[in-house]
Amino acid sequence: MCGIMGYIGSKNASEVIINGLARLEYRGYDSAGIALTNKDLYINKKAGKISNLRSELDFSELAPYNTGIGHTRWATHGIPSDLNAHPHSDCKNEIAVVHNGIIENHSAIRQILQKYDHDIKSETDSEVIIHLIEYYYERYSLAEAVMKAVVRLEGTYGLIVISKREPEKLIAARNGSPLLVGIGDNEMIISSDASAIIEHTRKVIYLKDREVFEIKRDNFMAFDLEKGLVDREIEEIDWNIEAIEKQGYDYFMLKEIFEQPETISNGFRGRTVQDYGMIRLDGLRLSEEELNEINRIIFIACGTSWHAGLIGEYLIEEYARIPVEVEYASEFRYRKPILRRGDLVIVISQSGETADTLAALKEAKSKGIKVLSICNVVGSTITRESDGGVYIHAGPEIGVASTKAFTSQVTVLILLSLFLARRRDMNSEEIKVYIEHLLAIPEKVSQILSNNDYIRDIAEIYKDKSNFLYLGRGINFPVALEGALKLKEISYIHAEGYPAAEMKHGPIALIDENMPVVFIAPRDEIYSKVLSNMEEVKARKGKIIAIANQGDNDIKEYADHIIYVPPVRKMLSPLITVIPLQLLAYHVAVMKGCNVDQPRNLAKSVTVE
Ligand code: F6R
Repeated sequence: MCGIMGYIGSKNASEVIINGLARLEYRGYDSAGIALTNKDLYINKKAGKISNLRSELDFSELAPYNTGIGHTRWATHGIPSDLNAHPHSDCKNEIAVVHNGIIENHSAIRQILQKYDHDIKSETDSEVIIHLIEYYYERYSLAEAVMKAVVRLEGTYGLIVISKREPEKLIAARNGSPLLVGIGDNEMIISSDASAIIEHTRKVIYLKDREVFEIKRDNFMAFDLEKGLVDREIEEIDWNIEAIEKQGYDYFMLKEIFEQPETISNGFRGRTVQDYGMIRLDGLRLSEEELNEINRIIFIACGTSWHAGLIGEYLIEEYARIPVEVEYASEFRYRKPILRRGDLVIVISQSGETADTLAALKEAKSKGIKVLSICNVVGSTITRESDGGVYIHAGPEIGVASTKAFTSQVTVLILLSLFLARRRDMNSEEIKVYIEHLLAIPEKVSQILSNNDYIRDIAEIYKDKSNFLYLGRGINFPVALEGALKLKEISYIHAEGYPAAEMKHGPIALIDENMPVVFIAPRDEIYSKVLSNMEEVKARKGKIIAIANQGDNDIKEYADHIIYVPPVRKMLSPLITVIPLQLLAYHVAVMKGCNVDQPRNLAKSVTVE
């Protein structure tokens, strides 16, 4: 986790870095700090959010500094405190580092360095890095010292180092934690992701694992730790700054919920050929033979992306008739999974940087299995490590709670299931009908969003409850899980999702007049069964909030509150039913005074195990 930032050029480095860190704050917000250099080394770091640090800084006084680094932290080793905040400096206060990742052998390095009288002040794993560099910096240049030091590190790092002895350069290194360099006009910006770079330049280079860059304001040199000097190509970012602004919404999460008509369209745009009943997913990079050989698909993901994977299981098994398994990435990698010829692994990740998902991907690849990815962030590690895949094109998702990425992932999974179904049993006429219905979804999502005020009123009624149950069946069971996750992560209310019929095997014991139960109850083939489950809740005085189809009058008999959504084909239903659940969670959290975009203890991209 953590966001890191570096700048070298002719501007006031402190301003550029603090503004960049604000864009990276979703990656962690336990503490923030900056280090600047020209002939001296200036460091300021504080526990708490970036605003805390910002209020300490006198930017006009710091204007002479044109080189610097910054950090926003998500604590792993050591409590959030001023002392544990980055940047960390060496004993002579000559060099400083910001680090994102985990150094697994930090205790062993710490012990050795202490024998050489290094004064390591913090509890972090990161501080050992700068003392190790200091050790080599007695005999080598800064770039050489960093290269010597990083080969001693076990674990993951994205790091940037500055020195007051060589203030005209930044040294950046990467292994397992994302890092990219923005190439500006006589300036360079380094960041954990493109959101902090885009306002300066669209030209970027993504560092690869085990690479070290020496960066000056007008040029750079890239070194591979094994091969030495390497050539690196410059890529172009294809989205703009408006995509990462709030644009009048109180929170990014709300903006992202409201973007869904457009982001869902972006997910299917250019991928359907309605006249021919065809789906095009060129990024899969699978030969005809490989496609025909698929015997089993294994989705691997975490959190919300895992819920999308569960929906993928329903879709692909029902429409393409291929067996599917859905794995938690964190479990898969440690479980000696059985993988065979004919298996296809598909990892799903919004950020493309989730450490568990990346490790699972590598595990599958090491067994000779083809791995595809469904990701949002272009150029992210997972997309580069996989054999092919599909971008969801949801645009930057800043709110920590995933919303638009989920519906975009589901959109791509719908396309994938149709693509595979077409090669098996489904004919082009059927595909044409599904495409037609899919194309109508954004308009239907807009209709639901126009009910925002009504959903807010329901949130007002239930905001003080301590527990919620979410129940759904079939393809809407994962939506129940997702609704519960949204509520718990941003409002800190305990919520559970269950298949509706499982309720009677345990959770029913929890139901009394204080338990709100959210039912996802579209009028599909198991609708009548869901009504029976509602009956069971009602009999125990539970309060029912139902997500039901417009025109469904029967449900009035059961539910205390009904949020109507347009009826759609079953396959498309999660794209519709999840929207009111996102809004419900959002409003409850806002009413409880929670910081919706940055919930406690969470970070957007979980790049640690
Ligand atoms: C929940 C949420 C997380 C992520 C999970 C995986 O709202 O955002 O559960 O879904 O950490 O992240 P990605 O998709 O980036 O791999």
